Amino acid sequence: MKDIAPKKSDLEPIEVASRDEIEVLQLDRLKWSLKHAYDNVPMYKQRFDEAGVHPDDLKSLKDLAKFPFTYKNDLRDHYPFGLFAVPREQIVRIHASSGTTGKATVVGYTKNDCDLFANMVARSLRASGIRPGDMVHNAYGYGLFTGGLGAHVGIERLGATVVPVSGGMTPRQVTLINDFKPDAIMVTPSYMLNILEEFNKQGLDPRESSLRVGVFGAEPWTNAMREEVEQAFDMHAVDIYGLSEIMGPGVANECVETKDGLHIWEDHFYPEIINPETGEPVEDSETGELVFTTLTKEGLPMIRYRTRDLTRLLPGTARSMRRMEKITGRSDDMIILRGVNVFPTQIEEQLMATGGLAPHFQIELYRAGRMDAMRVHVEAMPDAADELSKTAAARMLTKRIKDVIGISTEIDVGDPGDVARSEGKAQRVVDNRPKER
Ligand code: DLL
Repeated sequence: MKDIAPKKSDLEPIEVASRDEIEVLQLDRLKWSLKHAYDNVPMYKQRFDEAGVHPDDLKSLKDLAKFPFTYKNDLRDHYPFGLFAVPREQIVRIHASSGTTGKATVVGYTKNDCDLFANMVARSLRASGIRPGDMVHNAYGYGLFTGGLGAHVGIERLGATVVPVSGGMTPRQVTLINDFKPDAIMVTPSYMLNILEEFNKQGLDPRESSLRVGVFGAEPWTNAMREEVEQAFDMHAVDIYGLSEIMGPGVANECVETKDGLHIWEDHFYPEIINPETGEPVEDSETGELVFTTLTKEGLPMIRYRTRDLTRLLPGTARSMRRMEKITGRSDDMIILRGVNVFPTQIEEQLMATGGLAPHFQIELYRAGRMDAMRVHVEAMPDAADELSKTAAARMLTKRIKDVIGISTEIDVGDPGDVARSEGKAQRVVDNRPKER
């Protein structure tokens, strides 16, 4: 793999500023953001008043813990525009979650917010080793989802060439990569596996492709998956994180030179980790739920927004800003099977370590008698699809999951192509248990 790390001189001064400098800026901005929310969003005023706190009570960063949390449901309850802090006419862009369960959550950006969005994605791409003049194949979905357009404006802001492909039509993705010869690709990791498969189907060697780096996010993925993709394409794979409520992609990003977790762009998004049960902040380096407060956003300020994502904070390395460890999963995705907590990423790790199996999987939960049970649908690699190899792989994966995670699962090894493919965020869990009445 080529060394594509950015030069220190290409970074913004704040990326390498001292912790003191960063914290002074954060406190200043936090005061503004709390006041902006309190003065302009009735929900925040009511919540702060009920909790007996006022923006003036914030004297240090630690004081933020006195302020109430904001939840995804608050966005639903104020659907569509009720949490905007500026008149709708000043909102120049809307995005929304797909809203597969319940109402969509709608977010809005002012002109300055859009500028911030572009700048943060551009910073993320620079950290990923992409430079002005490079070409980037953007296969994140365009539309209401923040991935496609968010990545798009960041690529342009960096001064790179964007190829706005969006998701889907996998054979065409491969044709375009072959013909245009982009330096980088932005796509969900699960869809990248789909693209890899298509390379092989077309008899093309992915290692011969022009791609030097992939910027993967929007869903959890493991270091085992990183290795698989890096090997297959002979390129770097880095992690990009974000969520619509806070901005979209580019809230945090890994640096290609260290690949040791994602630097949070703390000059605009203030992170906390809390104990999800008690709501109390935990020490840095302890795992818990990630909570964000926006420091500069105008259209939709978010104060102590509960992301449900589980991770821990670590000190800066390649940049002074703190890192978050690769996300294990969302508390909503956590499966509790006979008392054991399991995340799909843990299954992914074991799958990747088992020979003869492709990296595609889906977990099915069902009821066996009075007990919950888990079946993992996987598929054989094309050169190991005979019954004997399948049985051996199933036995091996069952044992690994039992030994490492501590749960009994049924492994269903299908033929190549049996597991549903993703064109965006993969659906890792299908819950077929009868609904509680
Ligand atoms: O997925 C924003 C995004 C687009 C990030 C493209 C990166 C690349 P939402 O659709 O609002 O926004 O979903 C946000 O996706 O709370 C996490 O649970 C999950 N997620 C996003 N990035 C990562 C990541 C976009 N790198 C939700 N690792 C978040 C793990 C991620 N989970």
